[in-house]
Amino acid sequence: MIKMIWAMDENWLIGKDNMLPWHYPKDLAYFKNLTKNEAVLMGDLTYHSLKSYYKTKPLPFRKIYVANINDASYPDAIHVKDLFQFLKDTEEDIMVIGGKTIYQLCLPYAHTLYITFVLKRHEGNVYFPRFDLNQFKLIKKDLTDELIFAVYERISS
Ligand SMILES: NC(=O)c1ccc[n+]([C@@H]2O[C@H](COP(=O)([O-])OP(=O)(O)OC[C@H]3O[C@@H](n4cnc5c(N)ncnc54)[C@H](OP(=O)(O)O)[C@@H]3O)[C@@H](O)[C@H]2O)c1
Repeated sequence: MIKMIWAMDENWLIGKDNMLPWHYPKDLAYFKNLTKNEAVLMGDLTYHSLKSYYKTKPLPFRKIYVANINDASYPDAIHVKDLFQFLKDTEEDIMVIGGKTIYQLCLPYAHTLYITFVLKRHEGNVYFPRFDLNQFKLIKKDLTDELIFAVYERISS
């Protein structure tokens, strides 16, 4: 099953110069809690962004897949060169953790979405690709003063 997790602001902004545009400790804690025991899939740019954040510390996931069209190797991750084949064939539970390109390519395969809505507009240059959230039903919603933690499941046709 493919799950996806991301945070976006009121304009669907998700990134700024290959980093997060904001610092919300509650969202980081939520992300950590939901991803720590998971097999995660991310794009090459997000992998390097996380590496620069964690420096020499290991990335806090059970298993890591990194998508990159080019030949690449990662000391702590499995390289996914053919993303579509991977998404079609995998029998694992996979949590997709970004960035924009990988979210866009994985969305049609996703069953569960963990979206953090940031109740503000920030500055940045990477936006989540617009899609129809009505294809999903809201199954959980927790509100704080700055954030909404929402969980959606795909409506089966
Ligand atoms: N707010 C959030 O929750 C959140 C979460 C994660 C990331 N982000 C933000 O998102 C931004 C990064 O997003 P991004 O779109 O620039 O990068 P990305 O999705 O992290 O990485 C794109 C990578 O995917 C590869 N790729 C593209 N198509 C592929 C395919 N069919 N098969 C395999 N690999 C494929 C590309 O390879 P090539 O290089 O060979 O084209 C590229 O290396 C950053 O600003 C980051 O902070 C935000």
